[in-house]
Amino acid sequence: MKKSIKNSIRFLNMIMVVIVFITTIILCGKFIDTTNIFALNNIIILVIFLLLSFIFSTLLANVITYPLKKMEKGMRNVSEGKITDTKYLKEYSSLSEIKDVISSYTLMMELIKKNNFDLNSQQSKTEIILEHMADGVIAFSITRQVVHMNKSAMRLLAITKAEDTFDKIVGKLKIDLDFDKVMYLPNYKSIEVKTTVQDNALNIVFVPFFSDKLSPMGVIMVIRNITESVKLDNLRKEFVANVSHELKTPLTSIKGYSETIMNGDLTYQEIIRFSKVINQEANRMSKLVSDLLQLSRFDYKKVSWKKMMFSLVDLANSVCEKMQYLAAEKKHKLECVVTVPPPNVYADRDAIEQVIINIVSNSIKYTPEGGTITIYLGSIDGNVYLKVVDNGIGIPEADLKRIFERFYRVDKARSRKMGGTGLGLSIVKEIIDGNDGTININSEVNKGTEVIITLPTKIKTVK
Ligand SMILES: Nc1ncnc2c1ncn2[C@@H]1O[C@H](COP(=O)(O)OP(=O)(O)O)[C@@H](O)[C@H]1O
Ligand SMILES: [Mg+2]
Repeated sequence: MKKSIKNSIRFLNMIMVVIVFITTIILCGKFIDTTNIFALNNIIILVIFLLLSFIFSTLLANVITYPLKKMEKGMRNVSEGKITDTKYLKEYSSLSEIKDVISSYTLMMELIKKNNFDLNSQQSKTEIILEHMADGVIAFSITRQVVHMNKSAMRLLAITKAEDTFDKIVGKLKIDLDFDKVMYLPNYKSIEVKTTVQDNALNIVFVPFFSDKLSPMGVIMVIRNITESVKLDNLRKEFVANVSHELKTPLTSIKGYSETIMNGDLTYQEIIRFSKVINQEANRMSKLVSDLLQLSRFDYKKVSWKKMMFSLVDLANSVCEKMQYLAAEKKHKLECVVTVPPPNVYADRDAIEQVIINIVSNSIKYTPEGGTITIYLGSIDGNVYLKVVDNGIGIPEADLKRIFERFYRVDKARSRKMGGTGLGLSIVKEIIDGNDGTININSEVNKGTEVIITLPTKIKTVK
């Protein structure tokens, strides 16, 4: 149907008029029986006329109803979520009877198409955001079925797609919560639950969502992994408890001894002895406070390293010398061994001196009398290493991985008795990290311990 439909109808009309005209001429004279109106001839003619008019009217009706049928199908498609093209309707737009309907329909379809596109892009944006969120999100319909569940939710709750209802999921998490209780929460209210799944501490928020008319449509569950913040919170609590405890012990003895002195009735020797204890405890407190201050400077990045090239061998030798008197107090043999002199290192000299002192003093403290402590120096993979080896009490394997934690001590009582604060190795680790070095500890109970540090020989270039 290339030409206009109007012309087609006109053409059909003309053919019909011609056929009727010719048929009337042929049949009128010969076949019409004027005497009997129900004669067979008359009936045949009538049937032919009826047939012709039926064919004509059907053709005419089809021409008009075809686009209507198409439009109806198009609308049915929309209800099924499909959009049909409207181009084919153009050729029917000259039909004055349905011209307006076609143009309104085309306009409506274009609008639906545009809205559909907007909606689809909005939906895909939302889906991408949901899928890549660190928080888990699950949406439940009013019938408690899962309508959306992102990857994070499956990972955090360790659930599969089989857990597809509110009751199954909440049941698996052993949370005692009724769906209706969430659904009918007052506006802007939510329910928060804390639970643990596979060593992860989770904070779960349940909140209802509503339609435009504010009738409840389902429940959203938002899952957040709070393991790190719980850990930090525990560390903070543990730290405060540790500091309080470490300060309380010396304070108690200072208070006790000073009160005894104040009460009088003491010999001169007793006063000297008690004063010595007070002095010792005050020193311990002062060491603890200065260690804590040093760590806090690391935490707040207030340390500016004074890095330079220097000989680690010279530094190790001077520390070895300085500490001989301490080693001698416990009859230890302390020596420094260098087979092949390593190159100079690039680090903060004073800070590295503190590192060596801390490590060697640990060896002196935790090695029974008459032990051997050796400092080895050499180079490895372009770095310089310093290894302190003792034949002391050693560190159990289970404690090794926690040894750099603040206040961590294998045997608190023994460490305290030796004036330790449990902060020495934490400071060592901070210094080594700040100087681009590494630190490793190997140990065997009752055999001994070796602490190995490495330091760079070059200025680190920032890429
Ligand atoms: N050479 C060593 N031999 C045995 N145990 C050690 C040695 N060095 C460290 N330790 C253990 O590691 C703990 C932590 O050391 P550190 O942080 O220096 O604390 P402190 O010496 O104040 O106790 C010590 O309490 C001790 O139990
Ligand atoms: Mg120490």
